[in-house]
Amino acid sequence: MITKWYDLQLLGDDRGSLVAIESTKTIPFETKRVYYIFNTKAGIRRGFHAHKELKQAMVCVSGSCKIELDDGQVKEIAQLDASPKALAIDPMIWHEMYDFSEDCVLIVLASEHYDESDYIRNYDSFIKEAANG
Ligand code: TYD
Repeated sequence: MITKWYDLQLLGDDRGSLVAIESTKTIPFETKRVYYIFNTKAGIRRGFHAHKELKQAMVCVSGSCKIELDDGQVKEIAQLDASPKALAIDPMIWHEMYDFSEDCVLIVLASEHYDESDYIRNYDSFIKEAANG
């Protein structure tokens, strides 16, 4: 399985719900960057890249979407919705997000600052690098 989830604890009471994510505890890496994706237009597919070193965890806090994960050999589809769990996006996993609901908000925790040189944006290059281990 290349799909890996980190369980999040739902801290709810009669006022409503709360989820806490602690760097190096809830997710197993130090978080240097957080970004979020929202307002994705209907029919859009995005992502289309892998990272060489970056570790990420993706949490859907509203709505839903799907994400296809590909390690160069196996492809899996994960469904993200507002249940309390974070999807691991490890290095060398090609990923594409799609089927965004209108209200989908994805929060992504990343282990490093933004660095375009860590991206592999060409699928053929990804397949070659994945095969070289
Ligand atoms: P992009 O990688 O195309 O998004 P996605 O993977 O969801 O398809 O990123 C869109 C733009 O935002 C691109 O110009 C790079 C920039 N960007 C940053 O400046 N910082 C960031 O942390 C991220 C994730 C993207």
